[in-house]
Amino acid sequence: MNQASQTATRRYNSVAKALHWAIALLIFAQFAIAWTMPEVHKGTLPVGEIHWHIVVGILILLLVAVRIVWRVVRPPVTVGVESGLQHRVAQLTHGVLYLCMLVVPVLGWANANARDWSAELCTGFGLPKIMASGDRFGLDLGDVHGTLATVMLVIIGLHVAAGLYHHIVLKDDTLQRMR
Ligand code: HEM
Ligand code: HEM
Repeated sequence: MNQASQTATRRYNSVAKALHWAIALLIFAQFAIAWTMPEVHKGTLPVGEIHWHIVVGILILLLVAVRIVWRVVRPPVTVGVESGLQHRVAQLTHGVLYLCMLVVPVLGWANANARDWSAELCTGFGLPKIMASGDRFGLDLGDVHGTLATVMLVIIGLHVAAGLYHHIVLKDDTLQRMR
């Protein structure tokens, strides 16, 4: 790490912090639901935990959309010049996490529509249909959705480990940025 990246820091505003933690909590809850809900087969109905998986997934997607718009209009303020390999790896990881947070729910949404389920938060208020009922490709996206969610979880694990490494080993202010 060079001198510039050591002295540089970034400040997230309170809305960005609130969105980061709300979405993180919902994503962890979403995995708990996904791992305990009944297996989805042809003819399975979206009730019980499967219903909650859809509701929480839609909430995540909507909050991520708000978060991205907010980041564009009110970006974090950087003090100093950020540079170096560590900074580039962090930027890449954050970019991939944003992409996964969008693509994973959209694939689940498309798969739900292909199963003839509507993606609704509550009766009459939901996402439009993006895939025809019974569409072969849409049905296959269910596996892609589950696999990509697992890839996202691994990246989240690396992200959390990096945060803890900064806090415990490097003893710098990285973790404080999101507090
Ligand atoms: C589902 C879980 C999580 C996701 C999807 C996630 C995603 C992200 C993303 C995309 C950013 C970049 C923010 C931006 O620049 O706009 C970020 C920043 C950050 N996250 Fe997370 N995060 C999660 C959980 C956590 C946890 C559990 C911790 C605690 C160790 C954490 C600590 C941080 C910190 C300290 C930053 C600021 C990093 C910096 O400024 O370099 N995150 N997170
Ligand atoms: C970040 C958000 C999401 C995460 C992390 C996530 C995660 C997962 C995981 C891990 C599975 C596999 C469960 C297993 O087989 O053990 C799964 C299955 C599924 N999810 Fe999601 N999901 C998300 C959002 C959504 C949304 C928004 C919808 C629908 C609107 C959805 C619909 C489904 C469906 C239909 C399945 C069953 C797929 C199949 O077995 O063919 N998911 N999800």
